[in-house]
Amino acid sequence: MKEKTFYIKTFGCQMNIRDSEIMAQTLCEHGYHPTSVLTRASLIVINTCSVRAKAEQKVFSLLGSLRKQKADNPSMQICVAGCVAQQEGQMIIERMPHVDLVVGTQHIYKLPGLLARVRHQRTAVNLSDSYEIPRYIPRLPTAGEQPQRNGDAAALSRFVTIMQGCNNFCTYCVVPYTRGREVSRKAVDIIDEVTELVNTGVVEITLLGQNVNSYGTTNPVSEEDTPYPFARLLHEVAKIPGLRRLRFTTSNPKDLPYELIRCFAEIDKLCPQLHLPVQSGSDVILRRMNRKYRIDDYLNMVDRLRAARPELALTTDIIVGFPGETDSDFQATMDLLERVRFHGSFSFKYSDRPGTAAASFDGKCEESVKSERLQLFQKRQDEISLERNREYIGSLQDVLLERADGELASGRSPTNHIVHLESWPSTAHSGDMLRVMITGAGQHSLKGRAVG
Ligand code: 5AD
Ligand code: SF4
Repeated sequence: MKEKTFYIKTFGCQMNIRDSEIMAQTLCEHGYHPTSVLTRASLIVINTCSVRAKAEQKVFSLLGSLRKQKADNPSMQICVAGCVAQQEGQMIIERMPHVDLVVGTQHIYKLPGLLARVRHQRTAVNLSDSYEIPRYIPRLPTAGEQPQRNGDAAALSRFVTIMQGCNNFCTYCVVPYTRGREVSRKAVDIIDEVTELVNTGVVEITLLGQNVNSYGTTNPVSEEDTPYPFARLLHEVAKIPGLRRLRFTTSNPKDLPYELIRCFAEIDKLCPQLHLPVQSGSDVILRRMNRKYRIDDYLNMVDRLRAARPELALTTDIIVGFPGETDSDFQATMDLLERVRFHGSFSFKYSDRPGTAAASFDGKCEESVKSERLQLFQKRQDEISLERNREYIGSLQDVLLERADGELASGRSPTNHIVHLESWPSTAHSGDMLRVMITGAGQHSLKGRAVG
């Protein structure tokens, strides 16, 4: 029988990267082998993102380019997974005859079975009313298996999904429609999964969810304790012997409780880094976005976080040109940037997403206005990122080495900055924790030499 080989192309967020890993592992367990060459695959999975219009366009252009490959090799299977799959479902099956299977975000765990089924009938499977994120026994990818993060970093640092979905319905956001309602995994499954990863050599874990703060509040995750606060999960995971670094993403500022802020003071393993998307500096816009906090609340949180952990590196997401955003609303975002001085940010032009409330709001901004605002914001953020990074020069940082070969060595600082080493011990290898004196800084990385 012909060998079953797969290639996964992943778009979008860390959640999708993790989902692709899960699909890869499930496929391997069902006799498939990974290939890094798209044209050699008997199965191509496209794990899609629809959070912004641009991400979705990339998916459709890749899909278009696969038409010819399928015509040349009709036995090849093409599967569309992830958020676009969820959103467009049947439409993709109807309009794209070369696609065999469209699998929504909650059904990726059943991928091999669904693939066997579509040999007989092309299918789209969609959101269900209730589902459970299954216990997942991790296995490190073998050499050449994709998707994986850069080289050795994959073996040291892994994502663990703790919850899926979102109940917040920010008015610009498609996620509640593509990923459905919030469902948290059982605490014991998460702890087992992390323990097992650590036993295979992983030293850094990032707990993942659309809004990790609301972990354990919408469905029972433990027999004795409901609700089970996210702060408690952090404490429990941090106790796992052998785990050296813990991170999490993403947090919504609307419900960042004080006990979670205190974790930054109480848990040594919790890295001093937080992504806290603010989206806008204007209260009027935040209200129209249905974000449920005001800028004063946000600034308060930042003060408390920095009091709990002074070296905390804060990053954020910003949308410019939301419907109705005036010059003075945008100026409020620029003012916020000056006040918080984020270490970094991801910023986007607002784009209408199908089915969201904001798509039908009045006062849409001109494309040229959005572009101008984005450019102004990004220019100032770049300057601040560089200034922030220069603050590390002369400091000592613990760097988790991700690679060290004859020519190059680099790793990550606790704040998640990439550190390129100018000198390091010849005996050092990936996975070592080195004391590093920071000697230089760029916009996106630091430079340093190992000491002691
Ligand atoms: N337009 C622009 N940016 C968006 N984001 C989410 N939806 C939209 C949209 N419709 C951004 C937000 C979010 C990040 C993942 O993507 O900033 O935090
Ligand atoms: Fe989207 Fe808001 Fe949910 Fe984040 S919290 S996924 S921005 S709806």
